[in-house]
Amino acid sequence: MITIALPKGRLMEETIELFNSKGLDIEIPKHSRKLFFYDKDKKYKFLIVRAQDVATYVEYNAACVGVVGLDVLREHNNNVFELLDLGIGYCKMVVAGKDVNCFSAKTKNIRVATKFVKTAKQHFVRKNINAEIVKLYGSIELAPLLGIADCIVDIVSTGQTLRDNGLEVIEEIFESTAMLIANRTSFYTNNVEIKELLDKIQ
Ligand code: PRP
Repeated sequence: MITIALPKGRLMEETIELFNSKGLDIEIPKHSRKLFFYDKDKKYKFLIVRAQDVATYVEYNAACVGVVGLDVLREHNNNVFELLDLGIGYCKMVVAGKDVNCFSAKTKNIRVATKFVKTAKQHFVRKNINAEIVKLYGSIELAPLLGIADCIVDIVSTGQTLRDNGLEVIEEIFESTAMLIANRTSFYTNNVEIKELLDKIQ
């Protein structure tokens, strides 16, 4: 049996849907706070973890493989193998603000609100803009509306959150989809099981 770390929420549902469409038989347990479950054949054990923690569980070998968005993976830079782009969970990492000129008037010093501190810093260093980063944990779109930041760096999926809050995309930084990752040691010690999983879902 191999252990697979899954990110709580929308991406977990998409992953299970994908895995089931490829012949696995998995049902997310309802009405339970249990944080692990098995497929019907008990070939796989699934851990339900925060998206930001998937790669940590995999890096420390609590899970042999995991599913994580490239957006999160780039931010945390864990020491894991990237095995396969699953093609689900598509989103874009963007700079967004009230209008396209929200920081052009003061291109040398701006304030940026984000959950993705490293990604934001790297982006503005590359642009030679001195960005003060305001770390937030959610509802990032409020920051420019309340004047605590000139713009935000965040992911956009449907675009609805930006639209509903009167913000627009100023720059795209990169595109992100969900990746299947593996522990570097487990990749060799559990190679047969991992290959079997890859053959199924590819
Ligand atoms: C994410 C992201 C945006 C939103 C984008 O937030 O930070 O706010 O989704 O999705 P959309 O383009 O489909 O509207 P999340 O839902 O994870 O909530 P959070 O603000 O609490 O982090």
